[in-house]
Amino acid sequence: MIFDTEFVEDKILQIENWVDILTEAIDYDGPYFITALLFIMFNPIFWNIVARLEYYTHFLTKLTGSAKRGCYLLAATIFCLGIARDLTFEKALRFQEISPLLDTPTIKNIGYVLLGVGQVLVLSSMYQLGITGTYLGDYFGILMKDRVTAFPFNVSNNPMYQGSTMSFVGTTLISGKPAGLVLAFFVHFMYYFALKFEEPFTTEIYSRRDQERAAKKN
Ligand SMILES: *[C@@H]1O[C@H](CO)[C@@H](O)[C@H](O)[C@H]1NC(C)=O
Repeated sequence: MIFDTEFVEDKILQIENWVDILTEAIDYDGPYFITALLFIMFNPIFWNIVARLEYYTHFLTKLTGSAKRGCYLLAATIFCLGIARDLTFEKALRFQEISPLLDTPTIKNIGYVLLGVGQVLVLSSMYQLGITGTYLGDYFGILMKDRVTAFPFNVSNNPMYQGSTMSFVGTTLISGKPAGLVLAFFVHFMYYFALKFEEPFTTEIYSRRDQERAAKKN
């Protein structure tokens, strides 16, 4: 097979051209852009620090009188922070430019599909996990009886995070504003690192529980 370098070079030029057009429409100094970015970075850091503090000191359990109430308090806080983040994201996008490259019916339709699928993943995983399962209950000693394997966990390991990222990308494509892609990328990036931090910890909590269970049986 002859490798068609001209074709490849053409494609690369075209992609560079697209990236140029997209980045031209991003205003990093736009109102709320940095605020949105800070919210996106702050939230996962916040809940990981608070959850670990709870795990080691039980300060929320002591404050509220029970692990369950402590977890609900953290859940409400994370939920509100999430709403604030989403509102700032939308506000930031309002002041950004639409790019002709994204402003097409096809891109918009892809956006609607991503937003729809993303919301299904988020809502169905909340439904499966319940409030304490969704909001770090394991750090309070509230563990799930068994690993959930039903939908959406049969199509995604982290439906909450993946669904959320998809929703941000979807909203961005619907708006046609490339600035949203930068913010959505940071959502993905933060979740990616949060998972690196959370997964080993959760695995350890559960394997300790399983060991204790096995010990009780013997
Ligand atoms: C996941 O579960 C849903 C609902 O039970 C089912 O319809 C779907 O086919 C499953 N998907 C996979 C990939 O197993």
